Amino acid sequence: MTNRVTLFEVGPRDGLQNEKEIIDTSLKIELIERLVSAGIRRIETTSFVNPKWIPQLEDAVDVLNGIQRKDGVVYSALVPNLKGLERAQQTGIKEIAVFMSSSESHNKSNINKTMEETYPVLREVVETAAAVGMKVRGYVSTAFGCPYEGDVPLSAVARVTEELLRMGVYEVSIGDTIGVGTPGQVKERFTSLIGLFGEERLAGHFHDTRGTGLANVYAALEAGIRTFDSSIGGLGGCPYAPGASGNISTEDVLYMLHGMGMETGVKLEEVVEVGTFMERILNRTLPSRVLQAMKKT
Ligand code: HMG
Ligand code: MG
Repeated sequence: MTNRVTLFEVGPRDGLQNEKEIIDTSLKIELIERLVSAGIRRIETTSFVNPKWIPQLEDAVDVLNGIQRKDGVVYSALVPNLKGLERAQQTGIKEIAVFMSSSESHNKSNINKTMEETYPVLREVVETAAAVGMKVRGYVSTAFGCPYEGDVPLSAVARVTEELLRMGVYEVSIGDTIGVGTPGQVKERFTSLIGLFGEERLAGHFHDTRGTGLANVYAALEAGIRTFDSSIGGLGGCPYAPGASGNISTEDVLYMLHGMGMETGVKLEEVVEVGTFMERILNRTLPSRVLQAMKKT
């Protein structure tokens, strides 16, 4: 099994979508460019959801059009429907991500549709994006538990993953939206999902709400997963999932992975500087432990 791990940075999107105070577009652009300078090669920059639902990311087109894009870097953005895809096309990005939940009530509260209503909407997005040469990633939310329904059966997670792959997404990120997963469950679920779909088509997306985030990354690594979503400083959370808090932090995951001899191509010291920059912008201490231990004050 390879010791190469890919980090998919979601800070500019998942990290910022829950921030109430609107951050300047120029600072979002600087954040993305700094993360790329630190070695990040896959990054979710923003989202083209309805700005009434997520006001912080209303400037999605300006953010993407303001970045000095670098070759070899995948700049992605979340897209919920064709309207979002039209807006994404104004930026010339080559990759987008679609998303839905594996539990009915979270899906409804997050995107205002039943799961059955969601499939055709996403299929249309994936097919239209593919027709114009875009790659599409997929997310399955509430894969380890739902804020409204509690336990979510593995069969529901497998069904949504299968539907997304069948539509044509190249990778599905399995999300612990509210950070309820524990390592035994994570290892078991990923082992089953890898058996069904293969590890190269799966990624792990963990939130550290209950302090199990890094342990869950470790468990997923043991199961064979080599792509993980993380967020600078441990920022983040879904506004339509009560109790959701920070994503696993990029600094903490890097520290653990590098200590285990894994290669990421990302420079931890530089990521810590980006975390410090974010703390200055938000004027508060961020949850990342490694940021707190390594930052120069
Ligand atoms: P809706 O209100 O049901 O949409 O929202 P609609 O189709 O009925 O349209 C209503 C109005 O919104 C119309 O305008 C549309 O044009 C407009 P009007 O005619 O009234 O003037 N509209 C849009 N405008 C701009 N961009 C769009 C768009 N779509 C419709 N894309 C919708 C449905 C899905 C759009 C809405 O529910 C929404 O935006 N939800 C997004 C919520 C969200 O962003 N949640 C967080 C991201 S998911 C997450 O964090 C989890 C993840 O990290 C993984 C994990 O942790 O599990 C990915
Ligand atoms: Mg998330």
